[in-house]
Amino acid sequence: MAAIPSIKLNTGAEIPAIGLGGTPDGFTPEDMAACEKWFLTAFEVEEAGYRHFDTAWMSGTEPSLGAALRASGVPCGEVFITTKLAWHHQKYVERAFNDSLNRLGVDYVDLYLMHWPQHLEYPTGYDFPPTLEEIWGGWKLNEEHTFNDTWAEMEPLHASGKARAIGVSNFSIKTLEQLFKTAKIVPAVNQVEMHPYHADTELLEYCDKKGIVVTAYSPTGHQKLRSDPVLAGLAEKYRVSPTQIILAWHVARGVVAIPKSSNAGRQKENLILPTLSAEDVASVTALDRKQRCEAWGKFGPDGKFLGWTAEQYGW
Ligand SMILES: NC(=O)c1ccc[n+]([C@@H]2O[C@H](COP(=O)([O-])OP(=O)(O)OC[C@H]3O[C@@H](n4cnc5c(N)ncnc54)[C@H](OP(=O)(O)O)[C@@H]3O)[C@@H](O)[C@H]2O)c1
Repeated sequence: MAAIPSIKLNTGAEIPAIGLGGTPDGFTPEDMAACEKWFLTAFEVEEAGYRHFDTAWMSGTEPSLGAALRASGVPCGEVFITTKLAWHHQKYVERAFNDSLNRLGVDYVDLYLMHWPQHLEYPTGYDFPPTLEEIWGGWKLNEEHTFNDTWAEMEPLHASGKARAIGVSNFSIKTLEQLFKTAKIVPAVNQVEMHPYHADTELLEYCDKKGIVVTAYSPTGHQKLRSDPVLAGLAEKYRVSPTQIILAWHVARGVVAIPKSSNAGRQKENLILPTLSAEDVASVTALDRKQRCEAWGKFGPDGKFLGWTAEQYGW
């Protein structure tokens, strides 16, 4: 088993190739608070433990990650923290960023991402509406203030040193090309859905050329992928689990992966990865079906997902 490497960002900073995902197991205040416990186990699991954590204003886990960081006693400078600007905060960049710092209880973050390219607005303005139904359905698309405007408002955060790096999430080659028309700073990271059923090699190669590190979200591809026979065969060959094969594949491709687990045993498993042969990496890549996990690939009868068509996303 190889040690988990770090990958150099275009800022010169290093990001550990495996981080812990920060989505709660549910969206009640109790679910959010419960995360503190499993964030804390992640700091301690497997010798040095996790030193890279992914969260977001929208996931509601910034306060519990901050509390776990303080309880762990690990100095902030030894941990790589990513958080994200919510889709309804694109007009409130500075306020939302400071709010995230306060919620985390830190003076800076290592990486601040624009969570989605599209700008949604709620009747409640800065605050989320009270119900999940309204959060998913009660928005209006703002087509005047684009991600180019939002990025221009994020760039000073990097200059201030409070966002050590800035980047994007859910961007495609098409939307990155649009961003480059006005961007002064090249995003350090593009965080996208990536796993063997959605390998997106073209986007990965494009980002490599531009000096953008790709972070894979939903990196394990969830249960259906874990039971794929090719992965089962490789798991037997390397004497590990299918999830470890998938995560080792990400690392071999130079991709950062942020598997979420609230279970200490699985947190540990996800840090102990084999080194796959080039041939085995290729056989995992060949599983690609251009298939997203259900939540993010679900376009409605109007052909839209969160206000955008697949063509607008560049998917
Ligand atoms: N930028 C975005 O728009 C975006 C969107 C989605 C997600 N994300 C980020 O990406 C992170 C990960 O994504 P995700 O949660 O969708 O997918 P994931 O990490 O691929 O899958 C998480 C699921 O896999 C299980 N799991 C983890 N390790 C396992 C193992 N070794 N064996 C068996 N099951 C295992 C977890 O269960 P247990 O907890 O019970 O172990 C959980 O049910 C999120 O937490 C979030 O930080 C970002």
